[in-house]
Amino acid sequence: MLPCLRGDYVGADDRTVLITGATSGIGLQTARALAGKGFTVMGVGRSKERIEAALGLFNDGDVRYFLADLSSQRQVRRLAEEVKQHLDGRGLHALINNAGAFYSYYALSDEGVEMQFAVNVAAPYLLSHLLYEDLKKAGGRIIMLSSASHFRTLVRWKDIQLSRRYRQLKAYKQTKLFAVLLAREFNRRFQGVRAFAADPGLVNTEIGLKDTRGAARLIWNYRRRRGTEAAAGARTPVFLAAETEPCEGVYWKDCRPKKAARNAMRDDYSQRIWEYCARLCAVGPETPGGGGGNDGSG
Ligand SMILES: NC(=O)c1ccc[n+]([C@@H]2O[C@H](COP(=O)([O-])OP(=O)(O)OC[C@H]3O[C@@H](n4cnc5c(N)ncnc54)[C@H](OP(=O)(O)O)[C@@H]3O)[C@@H](O)[C@H]2O)c1
Repeated sequence: MLPCLRGDYVGADDRTVLITGATSGIGLQTARALAGKGFTVMGVGRSKERIEAALGLFNDGDVRYFLADLSSQRQVRRLAEEVKQHLDGRGLHALINNAGAFYSYYALSDEGVEMQFAVNVAAPYLLSHLLYEDLKKAGGRIIMLSSASHFRTLVRWKDIQLSRRYRQLKAYKQTKLFAVLLAREFNRRFQGVRAFAADPGLVNTEIGLKDTRGAARLIWNYRRRRGTEAAAGARTPVFLAAETEPCEGVYWKDCRPKKAARNAMRDDYSQRIWEYCARLCAVGPETPGGGGGNDGSG
C-alpha cells in the first residue's frame, strides 16, 4: 500500500469505495467524483508514478491508493489483504471493477492467462470474492464496467481465452459480455450485495493506445475523438455507487437501467463463466456466505 493519505480516514459521507484502474480515464474521474461527494476513496493503480500523478488531481477528501498489477492473481490476493487491513473491520460500500485493458495482440499474464481476460474478467471475479464479506457488512455494491460492445457477441466456449485464434475485438467484446454475466451471477449467489454492469458509452480515453500496435492504435485514435470526456463516462458508475435508493436491473447506461443483450441474460452462460472463473482463480465454486442470493433491492 502506498502511504498516500489525504485527510482523516473516515470521510464526511462515511461510505468507502474501492475503484480499480483509478489512475486514468473513467476510473480516475469516478474516484474524483466520489471523493467530491465525501466518500472515502481507495484507488488501485499499477504504477507508482501514475498513482502520484493521480493524487495530485484531488483537491481534498480521503484518498488512498494501492499498488497492484491486476493481471496477476497473486497481486490481486495481496491487494485484497491490504484493503482488508486498511478497512480494519469496517464495511466496503462499493467495489468498482473499472480497470480494463485492450490488447491488439495475444499476450499472457505471468500466470499464463490471456491479458484481456486476466484484467477484465479474472481480476474482478477474484477481487469481488475476496472482498465479499467486507461488502456484505455494508450492504455494498459491485459495479462491473461493461460496454455496448457486449451486444451481438457470441462466446467461443471451447476456447474462451482465444488461444487458438486470437481476435482482439472478439476477445474484448467477450470480456464485456462476461462483465454483465458475472454481475447477474453475483446477484444470484452473493447474499446482501447487489451487482451491476455499467456502460459508460464511448469515452475519449487512451485505453486503445496502451497495449496496441498498428491499425488498432490508428482506429482507436480516430474513434475516440467521437467519445465523451472521461468525467461524463464516469457518471453511471458514480451514480450506482452513490445512489442511496434501491437500484433495479443489472445493465445500466446514462444512469438508467437498460436492456442487456440476450446472451447476457442467459443463465446457462452466467453459470458457465462463473464456473470457468472459479476453476481459473481457485475460488468461489460454492457461494460465499451460504447462498440465498439477494432480493434485488439495495
Ligand atoms: N473508453 C471507452 O469508450 C469505454 C467504453 C466502454 C467501456 N469501457 C471500460 O471502462 C473501463 C475504463 O477504461 P478507460 O476507457 O477509462 O481506459 P483507461 O483510461 O486506459 O483506464 C483503464 C485503467 O485500468 C488500469 N489498468 C489496465 N491494466 C491494468 C493492470 N494490469 N493492472 C492494474 N490496472 C490496470 C489502467 O492503468 P494505467 O493508468 O496505469 O494505464 C487505467 O487506470 C474499462 O473496463 C473499459 O473496458 C471504456
